[in-house]
Amino acid sequence: MVEVMSTPPPPRWITDTEPGHSEWYVERFRSMAADGADLFGEARFIDAMVGRSSRILDAGCGPGRVGGYLHSAGHEVVGVDVDPVLIEAASADYPGPDWQVHDLATLDLRNDDGSRREFDAIVCAGNVLAFVAADTEALVLTRLAEHLADGGFLAVGFHVAKLPVATFDAALADTDLTLDLRLSTWDVRPWHDDADFAVSILRRA
Ligand SMILES: C[S@@+](CC[C@H](N)C(=O)[O-])C[C@H]1O[C@@H](n2cnc3c(N)ncnc32)[C@H](O)[C@@H]1O
Repeated sequence: MVEVMSTPPPPRWITDTEPGHSEWYVERFRSMAADGADLFGEARFIDAMVGRSSRILDAGCGPGRVGGYLHSAGHEVVGVDVDPVLIEAASADYPGPDWQVHDLATLDLRNDDGSRREFDAIVCAGNVLAFVAADTEALVLTRLAEHLADGGFLAVGFHVAKLPVATFDAALADTDLTLDLRLSTWDVRPWHDDADFAVSILRRA
C-alpha cells in the first residue's frame, strides 16, 4: 500500500526547473494561443467521454487550457496546481473554473458540508505525473482516486521518455485503480510497445 506522507517532498516541477520557468511556461502557452494553435485536444477527448454538465477535475492544470475548454463546454470544473504562478495565469486567461493551489500528493477537496468532493472525470494532461516528486506517483494516484465519483475515470497522459510506462504501472499496482484502456495519443491511436506517449484511462477496481 501507499506510504502516507504528512509533508511530501516538493514536485520535480519546482525542484528540477530554473527560476523563471513558470513565467516562461505561461508565456509559451499565451504565445501559442495568440498564434491560433490548437491547445484543446486533450480537453475534447475528455469532453467526448463524459455526460453533459459533468464534474471534472483538471489535476496539475498549469495555466488552464484543459479546464478552460471543459468549462466552456458546460462542465463544472475545478483546476488544481502546486504552482501559484500558473494558477494566477489560469484565472486570468480562462475565467470560470474554480482554480486552486494544491499539491496533488495531499489533495483533499471538500464540499461545504464536509463531504469529499467527487468528480466524474479527472484529467492529468501534459506530463503531470512526470513532474510530481520522485516516488510519489502512487501517492498522487491514490489521492486522485479518492476524488472519483462512482463510475468515474482518471485520464493520465505522459511521454514515456519522461516517465517510463513500467514505472507508472508499478505505481498503479500500488493503488486500487486499474488500467481500463491505454492509447498512444490523445487522438485515439492504439497503444503499442514502441509508442513515445501513453494515455491511460484508469478506473477504481
Ligand atoms: C507540463 S505542466 C502541464 C500543465 C497542464 N496540465 C497542461 O497540460 O497544460 C505540468 C504541471 O504539473 C504540475 N504539478 C506537478 N506536480 C504537481 C503536484 N504534486 N501537485 C500539483 N501540481 C503538480 C506542475 O505545477 C505543472 O503545472
